[in-house]
Amino acid sequence: MNVNKFIRKNIGSLSAYQAKDIPCKVKLDANESPFGFAITQKIVRSIQTNRYPDPEAKALKTVIAKDLKIRPENILQGNGSDELIYYLITTFGGPVLYPVPSFSMYGIIAHALNEKKIPVPLDDSFDLDLKRILLEIRKNKPKLIFLSSPNNPTGNCFSADRILKIIEASANKSVVVVDEAYQPFAGDRGFIPMLRDYEHLLLMRTLSKIGLAGMRVGFLIAREEIIQEVNKVRLPFNLNSFSQGMALEVMKNKAFLRRSIRTIISERMRLFRELSGMRGIMPYPSEANFILFRVPEPDSVYENLLKKGVLVRNMKGVVDGCLRVTVGTPGENRVFLKALRVAVKQ
Ligand SMILES: Cc1ncc(COP(=O)(O)O)c(C=O)c1O
Repeated sequence: MNVNKFIRKNIGSLSAYQAKDIPCKVKLDANESPFGFAITQKIVRSIQTNRYPDPEAKALKTVIAKDLKIRPENILQGNGSDELIYYLITTFGGPVLYPVPSFSMYGIIAHALNEKKIPVPLDDSFDLDLKRILLEIRKNKPKLIFLSSPNNPTGNCFSADRILKIIEASANKSVVVVDEAYQPFAGDRGFIPMLRDYEHLLLMRTLSKIGLAGMRVGFLIAREEIIQEVNKVRLPFNLNSFSQGMALEVMKNKAFLRRSIRTIISERMRLFRELSGMRGIMPYPSEANFILFRVPEPDSVYENLLKKGVLVRNMKGVVDGCLRVTVGTPGENRVFLKALRVAVKQ
């Protein structure tokens, strides 16, 4: 059967998200936390496999709301923030504006939903090109703007005053989504305090980077009227019982979260220092749980690391000449640094 005859044109020209399963000993390619959370008997006992999950994830929203000092009505749960990006583009439509390089799912989902994309290159310091974005807002009138800060894969936060100028310029024109997937590792508090001042500002958070990537739990934070609209396109039971139960326990275990985030930040600083000291290697400052670094002959360094069992991300075609390493446990980082020292000499 010629499947191309039946599928939509925009799907035919779409490339699937690359999440390759490459065997390795030290996995530092996907910006996951190296610290997992134990599945306790209490969590197992709280799950009834024959019943649908709570469609509203009430208990979890209550805990998250308390933690972020907002109201449960301002939260929408997603099966990871990936799903929320889908819901947002479904709800608001395009054109969809986003910087490049940034998280690839903004473009992939806009394409899948056949919406116009407006990718705007970052400037030389990996910050937002304010002039160009303001021009695009005037000229091409995006309905949705996605800004990931800290940004993946560059690791930096965009300047807050540029984000604010974009939010101000898009009032009554676009919805601005600040994707704070990596905010727990950043120096500031993020954009939650700004929600009061801007009704078209939305935030996304995820538990994926702080130990629960396997559970797929993300959140949209916005005005209640917006949450109610996006909720119309949400599948009724999008967050399964196990994920809700695990997320609830993790959010209650503040000590575990604080400790693991603190370790990741101090290990990131150590990795940055070590990488800066290696001849030919140039790491970019990061406020996330990964570091982008420039290296001569990235393809062969990537392969040599893999031969030693260390998997990082080759950013070829995204930020040419660079690799991206996720911060691991102190032991994993030692193995990575040792393998890298050997790899760059070969
Ligand atoms: C900026 C950004 N947003 C969102 C996500 C997706 O997160 P989730 O696992 O919650 O779907 C990622 C994952 O890498 C990311 O880098």
